[in-house]
Amino acid sequence: MIMLKLKNLFKQDEHKVDLENLPQHIGIIMDGNGRWAKKRGLPRSGGHAAGAKTFEKIIEDAGDIGIKVVTVYAFSTENWSRPKDEVDALMSLLEDYLDNGLERIAGRDVKIHFIGDSAAFSDKFQKKLAHMEKATRDNGGLLLNVALNYGGRAELTNAVKQIAEEVKNGEINPDEITEDTISKHLYTSGQPDPDLIIRPSGEFRLSNFLMWQGAYSELWFSDCLWPDFSKKELLEAISDYQKRNRRFGGV
Ligand code: FPP
Repeated sequence: MIMLKLKNLFKQDEHKVDLENLPQHIGIIMDGNGRWAKKRGLPRSGGHAAGAKTFEKIIEDAGDIGIKVVTVYAFSTENWSRPKDEVDALMSLLEDYLDNGLERIAGRDVKIHFIGDSAAFSDKFQKKLAHMEKATRDNGGLLLNVALNYGGRAELTNAVKQIAEEVKNGEINPDEITEDTISKHLYTSGQPDPDLIIRPSGEFRLSNFLMWQGAYSELWFSDCLWPDFSKKELLEAISDYQKRNRRFGGV
């Protein structure tokens, strides 16, 4: 067993992570930016800016630990209902990442894939998404799915429409539709399902995140607000995951 020991990094205890039993895919719901900002008398946009910094740091940490796939929930199909100035602030953070992220992740071997309905974004924004995916597609390190205008139900609805179209065109017989057919029509087609889903900020729900893919994910919750989330919490989550007994419906 290869253990990653992080003694002294955290004063009170030692976190042991078994590098041979890492979750392949971790999903993260980056929650708590608004409350973090409120506690400091800042506008909510200040919380999102701090959250974006944490996002970049945690992606680096996940890559260093050896995680293969990370999916972050950056903007949901429901987030459009927030006040316009907050949506604008989130869009400008995302745009900054699209414009400058490549430089910042240079040398980290991260492959970026956007999941969600990008048709809702302007042509200019969509071109930037496509450019970032293209520029990183040959990177073989961490695969980073950034969920943008993403909702698990919308993703499944979209998959059902595509399959119905294939049935209509005679390309597939309804009797041949399996769970695998559905997985292949999701944005995460070909990727392993998330082994672990992390949600900080004291909320205990999935909020329409990876509804199909997360059927057997182990869940890890913490009171920590997303901007305060650090490698310490990431290692705690992984270490806790490694103690779980995953049965997938068996005994
Ligand atoms: C939820 O916290 C967070 C979001 C809706 C946005 C998450 C986005 C980021 C962290 C920025 C991501 C940036 C890049 C570059 C990917 P909340 O606003 O619901 O917090 P609250 O529950 O405390 O109000």
